[in-house]
Amino acid sequence: MLSAIVSALHVLALAVGLPAVYLRGRALKGQLDRDGLQRLFAADNVWGVAAALWIATGLWRAFGGLEKGTAFYLASSLFWTKMALFLAILILETWPMLTFIRWRRILASGRVPDTSRARALYLFSHIEMALVVAMVFVAAFMARGFGLRTG
Ligand code: HEM
Repeated sequence: MLSAIVSALHVLALAVGLPAVYLRGRALKGQLDRDGLQRLFAADNVWGVAAALWIATGLWRAFGGLEKGTAFYLASSLFWTKMALFLAILILETWPMLTFIRWRRILASGRVPDTSRARALYLFSHIEMALVVAMVFVAAFMARGFGLRTG
């Protein structure tokens, strides 16, 4: 039963994360006045929740003995592909994450942040979204035993 619940939470992270990163991009493309920034931060919060849920449930599924066991995943080239894609997302996320933390602080102190790099941040968000979609395909093939090293 636990494996089903953790699996559902892992998939739910996708249902939450994909729209969040899309809406974050939309907010970055729109007008970044106080309301626009609040929309951006709301989407960014949800994106953060999805990331935490992915990591917690993913690690649990891979190494907590809930699914096919650690040995299966370590022997799967598609598991490593999935992890490489996830790492790429984390690396790409560094700049937006630090920027939005700074913007939140500036806005909270009553000033207006310089949002002139919003277009580039939008591009980063968009690439992250594409990588998430790629991860879903890799995950589905991985779960069905494709890419297993044999012998
Ligand atoms: C953006 C992040 C992620 C996405 C979009 C994602 C997506 C998915 C999807 C769609 C499945 C279901 C595959 C299927 O049964 O057809 C899955 C399964 C799984 N994922 Fe993730 N995942 C993410 C992050 C992670 C992380 C960080 C880990 C581990 C550290 C992980 C480990 C697993 C494991 C172990 C399974 C179970 C595979 C099986 O049934 O044998 N995932 N993932």
